[in-house]
Amino acid sequence: MISISSLKSALAKLSKAALAAIAVAATSAALAQSSGPFSSSPFRFTHQDGEAIYRNVCAGCHMPDGRGASGAGAYPALARNAKLEAAGYPVLLVVNGQKAMPAFGRALDDNQVAAVVNYIRANFGNAYTDRVSTDDVKAARH
Ligand code: HEC
Repeated sequence: MISISSLKSALAKLSKAALAAIAVAATSAALAQSSGPFSSSPFRFTHQDGEAIYRNVCAGCHMPDGRGASGAGAYPALARNAKLEAAGYPVLLVVNGQKAMPAFGRALDDNQVAAVVNYIRANFGNAYTDRVSTDDVKAARH
């Protein structure tokens, strides 16, 4: 049986958590407004490291091991993917999106796009050693 008092304290905790969430949302909205040319973006990722960006942004669809997934949608494997040889291809996809692949050009800055593209091209069985630069990413933005 749940007592009234434990219910009350659970509700009190919940509203504290809700207030905290609102505070975080307000702070990040304020930060987004003050940050650079893509200020209309509702969120920005702060990680600069390709692996961390992959885990946080891409792995949900392409899976942590890059093998992709199929089910409600088809998420192509990035592992052993010959299409990654042409570095401009993944840069374009990450910046502009394509079909069910969202565009990340607003959420990620040039350095972050380059970092995550360099990460996927050098991992998951891919061994393309030429590196994408921030200038390559700039050129892919329109
Ligand atoms: C919401 C799910 C989703 C997320 C998140 C996502 N992708 Fe994708 N990605 C897709 C889908 C779906 C496609 C296939 C697009 C198509 O049909 O042309 C794709 C295609 C790709 C391709 C082309 C693969 C090929 O064989 O043609 C690359 C490269 C890629 N994604 C990289 C990334 C990277 C890097 C990230 C993280 C910055 C990322 N994706 C995040 C869904 C996603």
